[in-house]
Amino acid sequence: MATTDNVRSRFPGLSDGWVRFDGPAGTLPVDTCVDAIADYMRSPAPANLGGLFDASIASVAVVDRARAATAELVGASADEIVFGPSTTNLMFSFTRALSRHWQPGDRIVCTQLDHDSNVSPWILAARDVGATVELLEVDPVDGTLDVEPLKGLCADGRTRWVAISGASNLTGHAPDLERATAIAHEYGAKILVDGVARVPHLPTSASALDVDVLSTSPYKWYGPHAGVLAVRNGLLGEIEPYRVRPADYAGPLRWETGTTQIELLAGVTAAAEYMLSTSIADEAERETRLLALLQEGLHEIPGVTIHGPSVTPDRAPTVVFTVAGHSPEQVDHHLASRRIAVWHGDNYACELVDALGLRDSGGLVRAGVVRYTTSDDVAALLAAVAELTTGS
Ligand SMILES: Cc1ncc(COP(=O)(O)O)c(C=O)c1O
Repeated sequence: MATTDNVRSRFPGLSDGWVRFDGPAGTLPVDTCVDAIADYMRSPAPANLGGLFDASIASVAVVDRARAATAELVGASADEIVFGPSTTNLMFSFTRALSRHWQPGDRIVCTQLDHDSNVSPWILAARDVGATVELLEVDPVDGTLDVEPLKGLCADGRTRWVAISGASNLTGHAPDLERATAIAHEYGAKILVDGVARVPHLPTSASALDVDVLSTSPYKWYGPHAGVLAVRNGLLGEIEPYRVRPADYAGPLRWETGTTQIELLAGVTAAAEYMLSTSIADEAERETRLLALLQEGLHEIPGVTIHGPSVTPDRAPTVVFTVAGHSPEQVDHHLASRRIAVWHGDNYACELVDALGLRDSGGLVRAGVVRYTTSDDVAALLAAVAELTTGS
């Protein structure tokens, strides 16, 4: 495993000295990603796709490489990878297209654990066709999600899709995806896993899990701002996307409405190759150790409450906490004044913050461990939080 110094030297964005715990909202791009985007833009290649001239052919190759590298990262095949500007954007177009196949009375199951990009698109698409959405509830104390009640929600055969988080962007909790997939498939439902907070931290294979769709956003794994759906089991061909008439392509291109962000895909390839050049399992171990250090340190500070489940290896390395006498926004302001980046509020996990009863008090403070986090970063965060409670 590379030393932390070697790792940190790969991230130009660390040069300003800020301590970055904002990874769950987006990581810094790795150097090869930055270079790949600039190299493509500087080369003679920039051109739209589908032409017969060299630049266009070179640009197609850039897109093909991005599909292949992303497919390898998420355990899918290249022709199952759909790119878009963001996962949320893709979710809206995907659910809208799917809903043309739903009938009034059909059911979609979402969860209280999820980021709203895996809830609202389903609610709006269902509303348009008279389908219903049920929410699988979390434990109101630690926010964990038991998937067993899915059985009751799927048993009548009217559930068409189960939309479930691969790991919470707020608490890091990762539900039992194997079991959720088995239940959904047993009753004829399809399953979409939001892998956005999971893929950067835990080995995740769409084919091994046998999920129908897996989403991921490359800017959470050291790449550029983009979104990905790995759409499996032949679904891409079965569903007709909303598209312009001339875009009568086969495969993922049919779904990628408008001109492809080719330069960003050059960066996606580099980021995926960076992830693939490391052992995700080894990195997860290191991240879990730092998370434990962070959680233990926070536990020891009087007035700090950690929300969410305890540290285990099979979760995303994110901690959420509140500090007595200070709103999450005040804590965030204080940390920013110490050049420490975190996030506060609900971080779009609205149902989860409601279920935990933290809406009226302003949500939570969230700190996430990523590849470039060090034990010094953890010490800096702990010291800054302690200042609030000891007044030092
Ligand atoms: C778990 C999770 N799902 C989905 C999204 C939405 O991704 P995007 O920003 O690519 O739309 C986010 C964004 O933070 C997220 O954390």
